[in-house]
Parts: sequence; structure tokens; C-alpha cells
Amino acid sequence: MFEIQPFGGIIYGADYNPEQWPRDTWRDDARLMNEAGVNLVSLGIFSWAHLEPRPGEYDFTWLDEVMDLLHEHGINVNLATATASPPPWLSLKYPDSRPVTADGVRLEVGARQLYCPSHQPFRAHARLLVEQIAQRYGPHPALKLWHINNEYGCHVDQCFCALCAEAFRAWLQAKYQTLDALNDAWGTAFWSQRYGDWAEIQPPRRAPTFANPTQQLDWRRFSSDNILELYRMEAGVVRAVTPHIPVTTNFLGFIPGLDYFKWAQEEDVVSLDAYPDPAGPHPHLEAGMSYDMMRSLRGGQRWILMEQAPSAVNWRPYNAPKRPGLMRMLNHQALAHGASGLMFFQWRASRAGAEKFHSGMVQHVGPARSRVWEEIRSLGQELRTLTRLTGAQVPARAAIMFDWNSWWALNVDSKPAVLPLLPLVQKWYAALRSLGQNVDFVHPDGDLQGYDLVVMPNQYLLAQGSAQNIRQFVDGGGTLVTGFFSGIVDEHEHIQLGGYPALLTDVLGLWVEEWVVLPPGEHNRVRFGAQGEAHDVLHWAEVIHPEGAETLATFDQDFIAGQPAVTRHGYGAGRAYYVGGDLPQAALAQVFEEALTHAGVPTCRLPDTVSVSVSRLGGRSVLHLLNAHPTQALAFTLPAGGVHFEDGRPAAPSLTLLPYGVTLIEFEGEVALDELQLTQAPAALTLSH
Ligand code: GAL
Repeated sequence: MFEIQPFGGIIYGADYNPEQWPRDTWRDDARLMNEAGVNLVSLGIFSWAHLEPRPGEYDFTWLDEVMDLLHEHGINVNLATATASPPPWLSLKYPDSRPVTADGVRLEVGARQLYCPSHQPFRAHARLLVEQIAQRYGPHPALKLWHINNEYGCHVDQCFCALCAEAFRAWLQAKYQTLDALNDAWGTAFWSQRYGDWAEIQPPRRAPTFANPTQQLDWRRFSSDNILELYRMEAGVVRAVTPHIPVTTNFLGFIPGLDYFKWAQEEDVVSLDAYPDPAGPHPHLEAGMSYDMMRSLRGGQRWILMEQAPSAVNWRPYNAPKRPGLMRMLNHQALAHGASGLMFFQWRASRAGAEKFHSGMVQHVGPARSRVWEEIRSLGQELRTLTRLTGAQVPARAAIMFDWNSWWALNVDSKPAVLPLLPLVQKWYAALRSLGQNVDFVHPDGDLQGYDLVVMPNQYLLAQGSAQNIRQFVDGGGTLVTGFFSGIVDEHEHIQLGGYPALLTDVLGLWVEEWVVLPPGEHNRVRFGAQGEAHDVLHWAEVIHPEGAETLATFDQDFIAGQPAVTRHGYGAGRAYYVGGDLPQAALAQVFEEALTHAGVPTCRLPDTVSVSVSRLGGRSVLHLLNAHPTQALAFTLPAGGVHFEDGRPAAPSLTLLPYGVTLIEFEGEVALDELQLTQAPAALTLSH
């Protein structure tokens, strides 16, 4: 497994685009990089037009110079394959290399990521370029990592052109073998959609109304696989030349286009671009969820934060800066969630082009008078005291089930309601985090055995094998919390008949008859026990019939008043809870707290503005405590026996963290999480809805 240690510490750096600057800036850059503690830069990501100005005519002189200069300054290189943005000559020479939208519009030259993944001449040109780069720089001593392409699927995650239609048919033929099998899987008896010839099958382009749902789902699977072929081709080229250099491509967290569980298996190390909105309610929760997914993709392996903004981005309608301290806090958080590298987009803020208002480590004003530079430089220094963290593990006893296939299926139109998955997962994630839990993400076919608690906010698509995996987990003593509208369809998007969720009714001890969709403006309520607290339920409620399950909370309105909303059921040696509506975070936290306590997992109760993580260093534990509140200081009582991570000083029993403050306390053995308490909790900071 690829380890980060060869870098001699935490990776710190940025995308570096020297081709945007005159040569005399380069020396300055290298000197400033040394000053900031930068030890790795990503080079050449958008350099194709500079490296191959005309077809087959390569010019590497400038890149040779930059590679040597960086090496002289002790800075390593994460070298890109430079294929992320084909030069204008390529797109004009091969008009059909330009991708086509679902409406049949062929995209135009002048931006980036303008390629159709099925276009063979594009692939051939890309391969030739990557071969040139790999052969030329494979032996270079600065080269430490390969950066394949850039953010696959960021702008174009599907291309609906004739070449992709052909590739789709080939993919379907390999999957189904016979047309009869495809017709069955797609349910083409409906609306006279039966296919009599493979040639009749098309991508789900703009149609009079809902396209066939299984066609849409298979199209998503195909599109992810088709782009993955591009990655495989490039990774194959560089691996053949430099088998000892690790390979990555930068992921985007939760994006709909690519099945990262599948993709990550093809990388040596996972890397992430994370751009949480500093103006959002909880940037650290937004970022933390992606961080945790990255760690989970390769079984807990540490990962690299490949891009983040030093301060503002330029691509939202309104772009808030990262206020003093937030950038540092989010980087500490990445380390706490398993990162071993902290990189930025980009080194020097551009002067021209579409990203000139995006912050850089070196801002337009230059380093001397820049608040951002000061924070960048001091973080670079601080990282030297944190090197030991690159050897830490981030153990999680709770996991959230997540699956791109199910997300795609849920997103197919013609459903009982529009149900955006991410806000729901975010809410379940925040509820677990508010109980002090490290959280993994796990695929429905993944290994569940190491967890005490697995929660499934929504697993709309549940294949037979996955249901069996879940059943075994509960049977063997695990605790499961299942959310509404789960286990509805199989892998072909056909309903599992006999009462929802048909494959898990025995585990849950209930069946669902129908759902009560709550359009915007309508709500139901749930109440835990006759005297218990009531919570609003939005979007969705269900008609639940217990068969063995105990009712923990009931709905109190509409024709389901008095009927179960939240249930609990013993199955084998384990327990299965069911949450039959879109409950607020506080109610979810109540259910999770009970489930965790029953499973013997220590918890604490914290507002969303506190982030707690625990990492393991051999027999020791590190408590990472972050105050994510932008303006209020928070005071805590700490578990006894801790020492400060950086210098081993004994920790006082109580501690105050300033806004965006961070502290790392190390303990022998486990951290007694239940002893961690917020002692000064302003009213405004109680658990959010
Ligand atoms: C990323 C991309 C970078 C840059 C950055 C701006 O999506 O990889 O090239 O565009 O966003 O935030």
C-alpha cells in the first residue's frame, strides 16, 4: 500500500501553473515555496496546448526548466498527464471529439474538459502525450506522484453523441449478452419499448417524457465506466514506465457522475478537491463528509487533500472569503479525518483567465502584505509539529451506507417525490458527528463486520446480495438504522414485491404499505412516547405495519396519527431500527444515541459547531477538538490524563477554544469520550434542527 512517509512529513503544496507567468517569476516562486514549507506541487494539469502546440510537435523546454528548478529547491512534483483540457487544434481538427448534451448540443471550444470519452483519435492523442511525459520525466528525481487528468466528470460526466451511443450498446451487450435479457431487465413491455435489434438502443437523450428508468440507470453506470476507461489508459501508460511511482486522480467528493467506490480501486492513493462554502451554515460538516468518504474508499488508507481554496473561490454567485482561522481549522480537520497531504488551488492567483478572482497561496497583492499568505506560512510551520499524524489511523465504530448505484436510481425521474439524497445523508452524518463519532462510509456489499452501528439513510436500490450482507451483520450482533424508502427496487430498478422493504421486513420486524408524501409547506410530527418530545417531519412519512417491531415514536397527524414512525426490532444477536420519515437531526441523534449506547459505544453530545475526532497511534489515541463557531469561544471539560500532542505537556482539566480554535490532546489507550463536555454552551448553540 502506498505510504506517505517518503515525503518526510505532511504533504503541503498546491497546483502550480508556471506557464501563466513570465520566467523571472519562477525563481521567486521556488523561494517563496521554501518559505511556506511547500514540499509538493502539481504541475502541468492544463499544459497540453503548451506541451504540444501543434499536432505531434512537442516542446518540453519550459517544463524541463521548472522540474529542475523545483528539484534544486527540494520541492517534489505531482506531475499531471496534462490531458484535462485538449488544445483548440485538437477540438477543431476532430469536431466529433467535442461532447454532446442530452439535448443534442455539441459543446464549443474555449473552456476546458472538452472531450468525448469514446472518441478514439482523442484517446490516441492523449496516449501519445502521456507516453512522452512519462518517458521524459519518469527518471526525474523530483517526480513523486502521478496526477492523471483532472477532476474527471466535473463539467462533462455524460456525452450523448453517436460514438457514445455505440459504446453504450457494446457495454450493454457485454452486460446482458442477449436482447431478451436486456428487454426483461429494462421492463420494455411497458409503453411499447421492446427492442428488436441492438442498433435501436440509444442513450436517454431528451425525449417526449420520462425515459425508461433502467435505461437511465444503465446509462449512468456506463458513463462512469466509460470515463474510467480513459483513466485506466493513462494510468497504464505511466505505470508501465514508472511502476514505483504512485498514481492518483483528484476526486470531487459526492458528485453524481462517477462511482468512486469503483474508481478508487484503480488508484494507489485517493485524493480529493474540497471546496466547502465558507458562507454555508457548517463548512466543516460539508468538508468532513467528503473527507470521510475519501478515507473509506480504500479501507481507511490515508489520502491527500489535493485542492482547496486558500480563501475565496470565484465560481459561486457570491464568494465568501475564508475568515481568519477557518483555513487552518479545515486543514486540521482534514488531518483528523485521515489526510496526509494538504494542497491548495492554486499557488499564485492568476492574472488572466476565468479564475483570476480565485484566491491563491500568493494573492494578487504579493506575499508581504497578505493576511492569507501569513496564514499559509504559519500553517506550513505548524505542520512540522504534526508529522506523527501521518502514521495514525482513524477508527470508526459507526458507518453510513452509501452507494452510487442507489443514488443514480433514486435520481431517475418518475418517483413518488423528488428526494435529494445528499441533504438527507448530510443530516444523518451531522447527527452521528454530534455524538462524537468518527464516521466511515461503507458500500452495501462492503465489509460491515468491523462496525457496531451501520446507518442507512436511504438505500432505495438494494440487491439481493447486499440485503444478505446486511442481514448477516444484524444477525451477528450489529445494530442497523434504516431510513425511509429503502429496499424498494432491485439492481434493474424493478420493485421488490410483497410490502416494502421486501428483502428486510424480517430483519426490521415490519412492512411498509404506502407512503404519505409531504409537499413543501406540509408536515407531520413524530412523538417519542406519550410525554416525549415532538419533532416536525418533512417531505415523507410512511404507513408502517409492525410485525414484531416495537414502536418508539408515533406520527401525530393525518390518517397515520398514532401509528409507528420509529421502531426497534431484535434480530438474531443484533438490533434493527426503522425511521419511517424525514426526521430532523435532533430526533435522529436521539435514535442513534440509544443505538450506540446499546452497542456499548461511548458518545458525547455536542453542537454542530464543535468537531470531535479520534485517531489512533499504536496504543495511543489523539483527540482532535475543533471550535467551528465563527465568533464564539467555547469551554470544555476534558477527559482526564491527556497531554498536548505537540509537546507532551499535561493537559489542564478544562480548556477554552477561541473561534476556529483547534487542540490535539493525546491519551494512553482509548479516549473516554463520555467525559468530554461542553461547559459553556450559549443558548444559540443547542443542537440544530
Ligand atoms: C477545481 C479544478 C481547478 C480549479 C479549481 C477552482 O475544480 O480542479 O482546476 O478550477 O476547481 O476552484
